[in-house]
Amino acid sequence: MSNVTVIGVQWGDEGKGKIVDWLASRAEVVVRFQGGHNAGHTLVVGENIYKLSLLPSGIVSGKLCIIGNGVVVDPHALLAEIARVEDQGLKVTPDILRIAENAPLILPVHVALDCAREAARGTRQIGTTGRGIGPAYEDKVARRAIRLCDLAERKTLEWKLDELLLHHNTLLAGLGASTFEKEKLLSCLLETAPKILPFMAQTWDILENVNKRGKRILFEGAQAVMLDVDHGTYPFVTSSNTVAANAGVGAGLSPKSIGFVLGIVKAYCTRVGKGPFPTELFDDIGRGLGERGHEFGTVTGRSRRCGWFDAILARYAVRVGGIDGLALTKLDVLDGLDEIKVCVGYECDGQTIDRLPSAPAAQERVRPVYETLEGWKETTHGIQRWDDLPMQAIHYVRRLEELIGVPIILLSTGADRQDTILKQDPFETSLS
Ligand code: GDP
Ligand code: IMO
Ligand code: MG
Repeated sequence: MSNVTVIGVQWGDEGKGKIVDWLASRAEVVVRFQGGHNAGHTLVVGENIYKLSLLPSGIVSGKLCIIGNGVVVDPHALLAEIARVEDQGLKVTPDILRIAENAPLILPVHVALDCAREAARGTRQIGTTGRGIGPAYEDKVARRAIRLCDLAERKTLEWKLDELLLHHNTLLAGLGASTFEKEKLLSCLLETAPKILPFMAQTWDILENVNKRGKRILFEGAQAVMLDVDHGTYPFVTSSNTVAANAGVGAGLSPKSIGFVLGIVKAYCTRVGKGPFPTELFDDIGRGLGERGHEFGTVTGRSRRCGWFDAILARYAVRVGGIDGLALTKLDVLDGLDEIKVCVGYECDGQTIDRLPSAPAAQERVRPVYETLEGWKETTHGIQRWDDLPMQAIHYVRRLEELIGVPIILLSTGADRQDTILKQDPFETSLS
C-alpha cells in the first residue's frame, strides 16, 4: 500500500482536480504542497460544479484537507473560496481543513507588484495570473515573508511589515505604481487573523501521524512540470517547483513518503499565458480542440492555446518529474478527428533533436516532427471500461505509452467524476 502524489505533466489544466477528487475516496487526507490560488481546478460531480483554487480537491468528498507549508496563501482569497463552496453546500471547518503555520502569505503588495512588473515588461510579459505568486515566493526565499503564524503575534507583524514595505514600496514607486501604507495593511491583517487562525496547525505532525497509522496520503500538485521554476520553459514558468520531489518539502514529510507518482497528462496540449509551445495549432483543428475541450482558464478566463500531444515533452516531464505512471485525460475531446498527430521529435537549426533545448530563443525555434495516427469516429465520452474504447483510441493510448516510457493507468473520458477508466490502482501499486 502506498501514498500517491499527483502532478501535472504539461503546462497545467490537465484535469488534476478531477483525478484527485476521484482518488480522494481511497485516501485519508489530501495535501496541497506548492502553488497558490493561481491554480484553478474544476470538479464535476453530477449536477454540481466546484471551482477550487487553494482548497485541496479532497474537500468535495469531505476528506481531511491540508494546505502545506509549500503553498503561498492569500488569506482573503481563501476565505472567499471557503464562502463560495459553503454556499454550494460543503462544510469547511477546522475539523477538515488545516493550514501549515509556516505557510507564507500573499498580501495585496504582492499582487500589486506582480501586475506592475507585468505591465512594465511590455511585449515580454510572462502572462502570470496576476495573483502575486511570484513576489510572494521571492519574499519567502529572501526571508521577508509574513507567515500564517505571524498573524497571531502583533509585534512580529509590525516589524515584518516595516521590512516588507521598505522593499516593496521602493520597487512599486520605481515602477510608477501606488505604494502601500503600513497601518492599512496591518489593520487588514489583524481583521483577517481571527477568521483564518482557527485553521492553523503543525500540519507536518498531522501528516506524519497519518503515515504512522498506515493510512494513505494523497499529495495534490498544482501547475505542471513544464511550468516548474527549474525544469520548465523558464522564464515562462510559475515560481515554485511543481515536480514530485517538492511534495515532501512542501508538506513537511520525508521524500520517501510521496509514494506512487501519478502524472496527469491531457490527450493533447494546452497552455495559458506566454511562452514556447512547439505543437501549438493556429488552425481550425486547434480551435476545435479549444471549443470541444472548453479550454478557457478557470482563474483568469483567458483562452488556452491548443496543440497536438508532445511526446518529447511528456517523456522529459516523466523523467525530471519522477513520474511512475500516467492518467490520460480529455481523450473524448479527440473524438471525430480523421487523424491525430503526435510530436515525436524536433527540428532545430537543421538538426533533428529528441529533447527541448534550454535556451528560450532555441525553444521558440524548434519545429515539431509529427507521427500521424488514425482517429476514431465513435464517441468515447463517458466510457468507463477500457474494452469499450474504439480500437483506434486504444492504439493511440498504447502508442503514447511506448513513446513516453511509463504506463497509462487511468483514463478520463469526460469532466464528470464517473467518466473514468481505472486500469491499475496507484494506491495498490508497489514501487520497485
Ligand atoms: P487542473 O487545473 O489540472 O485541475 O485542470 P482544470 O480543472 O483547470 O481544467 C480541466 C478541465 O477539463 C476542467 O473543466 C474539467 O472539468 C475538464 N475535464 C477533466 N477531465 C476531462 C475529460 O476527461 N474530458 C473532458 N471533456 N473534460 C474534462
Ligand atoms: P493549474 O493548477 C495553467 C501559468 C500562468 C503563467 C505562468 C506564471 O490550474 O494547472 P503565475 O501566476 O503562477 O506566476 O503565472 O504560469 N499558470 C498556470 N497555467 N494552470 C495553472 O494551474 C497555472 N498556474 C500558473 O498562466 O503562464
Ligand atoms: Mg487548472
